Amino acid sequence: MEFVSGHKGRTAEITDLFAASFTASEGADEGQTIAALVRALLTTVEEEDLFVFSVLEGGAVVASILFTRMRYDQDDRVVFLLSPVAVAPDQQGKGTGQALLRHGLSQLKRDGVDIILTYGDVNFYAKVGFRQITEQEAAAPMPLSYPHGWLGQSLTGGAFAPLVGPASCAAPFRKPEYW
Ligand SMILES: CC(C)(COP(=O)(O)OP(=O)(O)OC[C@H]1O[C@@H](n2cnc3c(N)ncnc32)[C@H](O)[C@@H]1OP(=O)(O)O)[C@@H](O)C(=O)NCCC(=O)NCCS
Repeated sequence: MEFVSGHKGRTAEITDLFAASFTASEGADEGQTIAALVRALLTTVEEEDLFVFSVLEGGAVVASILFTRMRYDQDDRVVFLLSPVAVAPDQQGKGTGQALLRHGLSQLKRDGVDIILTYGDVNFYAKVGFRQITEQEAAAPMPLSYPHGWLGQSLTGGAFAPLVGPASCAAPFRKPEYW
């Protein structure tokens, strides 16, 4: 499996992948919403606050994942939010998503990231080390409509001590509909 980092020269291709994948699974509106989110993240978030990893197949992007920095006002630990992730509809169910997640997590660990948070289906994310967390363990940046989907993992071993202080996320995520 060929992994690549970053989105230079691939911004449109990655955005199109998210549009196609979410349109197939959630419908056209959600496809457009997620594509707009991804475009905003790729074009407005500072380089040091964003990690992008993709899988190439025959030179084409077939899966991508984004991580963006979160900040906890009173906590020095390095925290990133994993979201969103997509695998091309015709490539799903072959282990690509999990392989890409594992690759991304190991790269972030190597880069000194302490904690990864995400918001989604625990049945999928538990396969790559996430567990459900409470908002006492890590405040969410916006009110959560589905608190059971608030997930986290430490990249430095063991459970993580609660993150201290209110949280903030990359600006494109600051919309209630994503939470
Ligand atoms: C979710 C997604 C990234 C998974 O990628 P994938 O390459 O199909 O997944 P993998 O083949 O690596 O893993 C498949 C496993 O995850 C489970 N799984 C896949 N999608 C799932 C989902 N949406 N919810 C729960 N479990 C899921 C499968 O049951 C399977 O379990 P198994 O290994 O025990 O059989 C992909 O299906 C996708 O892009 N979906 C549309 C976009 C989306 O929903 N993204 C996630 C939210 S940001």
